[in-house]
Amino acid sequence: MFRSHHCGELNIKDIGKTVIMSGWVRKSRDLGGMTFVDLRDRYGITQLVFNMDADAELCRKARKLGREYVIRIEGRVAERSNKNPNLNTGDIEILVEKLDILSKSEVPPFTIETDTDGGEDLRMKYRYLDLRRDVVRQNLELRSRMAIEVRNYLSSLGFLEVETPVLIKSTPEGARDFVVPSRMNRGEFYALPQSPQTFKQLLMVAGFDKYFQIVKCFRDEDLRADRQPEFTQVDCEMSFVERDDVLNTFEGLAKHLFKSIKNVEIEGEFPRISYRDALMKYGTDKPDLRFGIELKELSDLVRGKGFPLFEEAEYTGGICAEGCASYSRKQLDELTEFVKKPQIGARGLIYIKLNEDGSVKSSVDKYYNENDLRIWAERFKARPGDLILVLSGDTERTRKGLSELRLEMGKRLELRKSGIYKPLWVIDFPLLEWDEETQRYHAMHHPFTSPYEDDLTLFETDPGKVRAKAYDLVINGVEIGGGSIRIHDETLQKAMFRNLGFTDEEARKQFGFLMSAFRYGAPPHGGIAFGFDRWVALFAGIESIRDVIAFPKNNAGRDVMIDTPSVIAQEQLDELGLHVIPETR
Ligand code: AMO
Repeated sequence: MFRSHHCGELNIKDIGKTVIMSGWVRKSRDLGGMTFVDLRDRYGITQLVFNMDADAELCRKARKLGREYVIRIEGRVAERSNKNPNLNTGDIEILVEKLDILSKSEVPPFTIETDTDGGEDLRMKYRYLDLRRDVVRQNLELRSRMAIEVRNYLSSLGFLEVETPVLIKSTPEGARDFVVPSRMNRGEFYALPQSPQTFKQLLMVAGFDKYFQIVKCFRDEDLRADRQPEFTQVDCEMSFVERDDVLNTFEGLAKHLFKSIKNVEIEGEFPRISYRDALMKYGTDKPDLRFGIELKELSDLVRGKGFPLFEEAEYTGGICAEGCASYSRKQLDELTEFVKKPQIGARGLIYIKLNEDGSVKSSVDKYYNENDLRIWAERFKARPGDLILVLSGDTERTRKGLSELRLEMGKRLELRKSGIYKPLWVIDFPLLEWDEETQRYHAMHHPFTSPYEDDLTLFETDPGKVRAKAYDLVINGVEIGGGSIRIHDETLQKAMFRNLGFTDEEARKQFGFLMSAFRYGAPPHGGIAFGFDRWVALFAGIESIRDVIAFPKNNAGRDVMIDTPSVIAQEQLDELGLHVIPETR
């Protein structure tokens, strides 16, 4: 028997009990006559005491224990004289009578504590040690609880969990596919699913009515803090639904998770903002609504005064930061540097200070008099003490820049508070997006997304204006999920492929199975998929989804622990009929 109790459960009520425990040596302290050892497992830490007077040989054995040794002890629970209020078990200690070393450990490469001395790379290389740290394990415990709540809630509504295959054919979610060569079909490849999109639609054709799956998805794309090459979706689909049925159902799921996991009650319906309004007001389709600071366009006010930057610009707009007129030269320079970063790429930042004494000071005093600037200020309903920050350029980039600046000011003004959650639905996305590189339209969501019937005529005249029945769930500036009502009609689906530049032949080859399914009675259907890793990270209050994944990849897409991707043996390549061309630098 290895244990009668784990390391997090004994307390004052257990005094006098004889116990058996097993775990890892977190640290040991030798005080001459006594040796103290902290024994750790998943559940907590318990102090062990070895007493020289009671058993000298045992005490000498304990002195030799190194960090992370795995041991088994037998002993008696005693009250601690020096109590530790920070530990569940801080009132007691175990007077050890028997010690077995189950496994020795080399000195670990970093300290296994919340505040570790290990850098990211080292921790990833020894992830199994990193996972022993409370903070990391707690994230995974949160993840497990969230998965259980998702299953409970969706099952209670009649959703059926169905697994879909991993070796499939390309799904068009917009990223590159990971491909797997087939040995039995030389020269042919599977693709790993970017999502189970087509399968869940086929399950609707099959009459399954309500489907969900907590599922791995794979996308070969540039990685960031919120992106992994393999990540997990809570993927869902429903039949005989319109947009609002889907939004209401999953608003219910979101509220259930908030309540059951965070004990947060989200009052009322989630706000719904059109894509167009989101860009106008916040410069982004994933606004953080924990604070205001909305963008205002100034293009109409700034033209006609001869300031070349504003005259030439497609868009001029700004934000107003309350109480920031007192910003120093240095602080304004910092903000200017911020907007000049390559990711934003603004040429400069214009400011207008509405001083507390009623005077106005700006960086464009040469072109605009006080009255002009007061008219701008009115647009923001700005008051004395406020600071207006203005950017100018092409519409898309400038709005994006203002969105970043808005977030930066939100951070500086401590308006992005942790523990506050502001979910919203962004709706009415454009169906198509122009791609400069390929000089053609791409599906903004994916090609199975239904357009609004009223907009169908725009296909001929202004395809970029066709709105989609697509929606995203955004919480605190993070895109947590996205979905749409689907096309369930073969003719419309074919037309959509044509608009995306597929020939009928290409569409048939890639998605013929779906279109032929539509010929056998397809119900109107729609769904959504949530980025599960992102949702867990949001609830854990952390930025990087890596911290909520047991064995994540680094930013270069590598798993440094198992050292992959890696070369494979020549025999394997031969068997697959593959020839690798070495990279030339
Ligand atoms: P979409 O592509 O918007 O939709 O993906 C759904 C959600 O998955 C998360 N996500 C990611 N998370 C981590 N790493 C990534 N690389 C990554 N890519 C996406 C995001 C996103 O909102 N089939 C459709 C859904 C549908 O239409 O029902 C789809 O996959 O949180």
